[in-house]
Amino acid sequence: MRAAVLEQPGLPVRVEDLVLDEPRAGEVRVRITASGVCHSDLHVRDAEWERPGPIVLGHEGAGIVEAVGPGVTGLEPGRQVVLSWYYPCLRCRACQSGRQWLCSDTPALAHRSPDGTTRLHRADGQDVLAYLAIGTMAERTVVPVEAAIPIPDAVAPEVAALIGCSVSTGVGAVIKTAEVPAGASVAVFGLGGVGLSVVMGAALAGATRIVAVDRVPEKLERARDLGATHVVLAGDPDETIRAVRAAAGGQGPDFTFEAIGLPATIEQSIAVLPRGGTAVLVGLTRFGARASFEAFPFVDGSLRILGSNYGFAVAALDFPRLAELHLAGRLPIEKLIDARIGLDDLEDAFARMRRGESVRRVITF
Ligand code: APR
Ligand code: ZN
Repeated sequence: MRAAVLEQPGLPVRVEDLVLDEPRAGEVRVRITASGVCHSDLHVRDAEWERPGPIVLGHEGAGIVEAVGPGVTGLEPGRQVVLSWYYPCLRCRACQSGRQWLCSDTPALAHRSPDGTTRLHRADGQDVLAYLAIGTMAERTVVPVEAAIPIPDAVAPEVAALIGCSVSTGVGAVIKTAEVPAGASVAVFGLGGVGLSVVMGAALAGATRIVAVDRVPEKLERARDLGATHVVLAGDPDETIRAVRAAAGGQGPDFTFEAIGLPATIEQSIAVLPRGGTAVLVGLTRFGARASFEAFPFVDGSLRILGSNYGFAVAALDFPRLAELHLAGRLPIEKLIDARIGLDDLEDAFARMRRGESVRRVITF
């Protein structure tokens, strides 16, 4: 089975032939149909995040169930599934309180199956890990059944893949984390797959002004196509702040979303807020990054900063809802996709992403 393997962070990805074990109790084998290239894969590739290797990259994927292990009920071969990169333990306090995106015991963070082993091996027997326990940049994967969420067959594979990360993260940040009310004004910093999903989510929520900000002009046009009412080409921070305030009308946007993960833009997303405004931090930074804000106006103006991981996704509930919204024509997820590529094109896709080119390149199998 062909898979994109990262020997260790910082090195180029190599496509290798791996051996995949049969699913064990509570697991399913999925034939991957599509896997998006997300900036979180690039964070790992570029050693901005420490991760063990060798590891199969990819965490934004969808596929078809091929086989189920002992004890699996309710998911049969042939079903289309979206893979969740944070499958919940369902036992910890966070899971029991319904906040699965905060699960403290998910084995996903160890990039292994719940029993601590891995189903992936090299021909010589060496273990290979699966990124976030799903490792979607491969022809097949074996995952716990909790990570495989059935969605309607009518959803195209590339669209299904994006529901697994960028769409859940961006739309969820608007709808679930911030609970943006109809009529609010919104600004979005960074227009990759995540930021453009925030734009789609803001349009869905009924935001009246949606200001989209990026340093790459081409991204601004993409944002307009997805519902942005105003665009700002990012440049000097003070000028960017002035332009965003003006575009949002009056004092500034009620809600800002930072979908890049850079201290400079995190600080802009807070500085631009009017009194009573809310900044939602969605982009993941490199480890150890810090950002600051001026404290007096923050308290005096009753501002809020919210962190939003995975758009507060409860995968089993939210993935099918996003799929239905897409099928109803209310989430044009297909517009995020620039190109269908092969596994061998992954390093090229990473290079484009570093330059801010392209929104989503999706590996198809
Ligand atoms: N000012 C404005 N825009 C910027 C800046 C900047 N200083 N730096 C980068 N950008 C833009 C890029 O041009 C690009 O359009 O931010 C966008 C980032 O998009 P992608 O690299 O495609 O990233 P994406 O996959 O959307 O993920 C965004 O969310 O979960 C996290 O790890 C993920 O940190 C990443 C973030
Ligand atoms: Zn991702």
